[in-house]
This record gives sequence, structure tokens and C-alpha cells, in this order.
Amino acid sequence: MRVVVLTGAGISAESGVATFRDSGGLWEGHDVEDVATPEGFARDPDLVHRFYDARRRGLALVAPNPAHAALAALEETLGEDLLVVTQNVDDLHERAGLRRVVHMHGELRRARCQACGARPAWDTDLQGAPPCPVCGRAELRPDVVWFGEVPYALEVIDRALTGCELFVAVGTSGAVYPAAGYVALAAHSGARTVELNLEPSAVSRYFDEVRTGPAVQLVPQWVAEVLG
Ligand code: APR
Repeated sequence: MRVVVLTGAGISAESGVATFRDSGGLWEGHDVEDVATPEGFARDPDLVHRFYDARRRGLALVAPNPAHAALAALEETLGEDLLVVTQNVDDLHERAGLRRVVHMHGELRRARCQACGARPAWDTDLQGAPPCPVCGRAELRPDVVWFGEVPYALEVIDRALTGCELFVAVGTSGAVYPAAGYVALAAHSGARTVELNLEPSAVSRYFDEVRTGPAVQLVPQWVAEVLG
């Protein structure tokens, strides 16, 4: 059975990674315009680098949780029949052992050179932006997709959605497109759709089944059912 799992900040919440729109979330302390748009980066690159440096350093303090582990276990059985698409920029899926992850909003542990397009790994204790290791120019930015920018791997994701039998969304508010529209695309292609979320999301009504609760409970439970 071909399965696509879309994850959002909620799957990392119990690892201690702040979500965006819950109370105390990332967007509460910052103006999205300043730290998550190309215009904000052009206006004050140091502020943006400080915001992402802090989040990147925070990755060293958190660990994958049972929900991340359950998806890695599912991949052990399903192999290429499972595709995990994440909106998250943390590396917790990888650290839980998941081998195939599509980071549609980029990755904290990667930089992107605005001069040559290189996407070098970005280690955790770097302050600000070094010169690009490929072209040497001082043009590195966080490799995170900002508002108004095109997410990564859209064709790969659309192909997976139109060919899957089961679509599961975990820990996402359904506030941001195109990810919020994936349930409709999967359903239109005949997939069964399941939402696993702490509370109903903005798109719960489009799912065949909605289970509410913490991901650390819901995801292992659901994986156990799939693995039978
Ligand atoms: N278990 C399951 N779900 C949870 C948990 C938990 N422990 N804690 C929170 N949630 C749910 C919340 O109920 C909410 O629906 O996770 C969702 C988090 O929503 P957001 O904070 O909006 O995060 P996300 O949906 O990933 O945001 C999508 O928006 O700001 C952009 O690029 C950013 O990738 C992000 C995108």
C-alpha cells in the first residue's frame, strides 16, 4: 500500500521544538515579516541569522520522540511505499532513522547560497553567515522556505499524492498552502485520508477520519494498526 505522511510542527512538539501557532509558538515572539520573508532578510540579515542560529543550536538540545520513531519503523516495512513529506525544518525524522524525508520548507541544518545556488550543510555553532564554501561569496542564507517563496519538491509531492492509497497528516494546523491542500488532492485521487492532531485543524473536515490527541500516542498506535 502506498502511503504519504505529511508532518507539521506538532510531531516535534513533544520533543520540545516550539510549534508556530500554538500559544507560546515561534510566531508569537517574532514578526513573521522580519524573520520569515525574503524582504525581512534583505532588510536585516543579521536579525534573521540570529533567529535561525538560535533555532539551529536548539536542535542539539532536543531528540526524536516516539512519533518520529514510529514513522521510521513503518518505513522499515513499507520501504519505498512510504513517503514522509515534512513542513518541519528540524532533523528529528532523520535522527529517528527515517531514510527518505522530503523537507518542503527546507532545513535548519542547511544553508543556501544566493550567488551560486549551492546548499551546503550548516553546522550548529556557526554565528551568522560564513562565505559560501562553493563559490566563496558572502551570500549564504538559511535554507528555509520563507513566506512568498516556492516550497521544494512540489512535483515529487504531487506525484506521490496522486498515486497513494493512504494519506495521513500529523501535527499540522492546515494554515499554510500548498500543504494544507494535500488532503483534498489525495482524496481526489481516491486515497483514504486520516488526520492525527492534538486538536481539529483548519482542514479536518476534508479527512475521512480525524483522531485527536498527542502525536506520541496517536502515531505509534496508527503505525501498529497499519503493520497489523
Ligand atoms: N501532537 C499532535 N499535534 C500537536 C501537538 C502534539 N503534541 N502539539 C501541537 N499540535 C498541533 C497543533 O494543534 C497544530 O494544529 O500541531 C499543529 C501545529 O500547527 P502550526 O504551529 O501551525 O505548525 P504547522 O502546521 O507545521 O505550520 C505549517 O507554517 O509558519 C509556517 O513554515 C511554517 O512549516 C510551517 C507551516
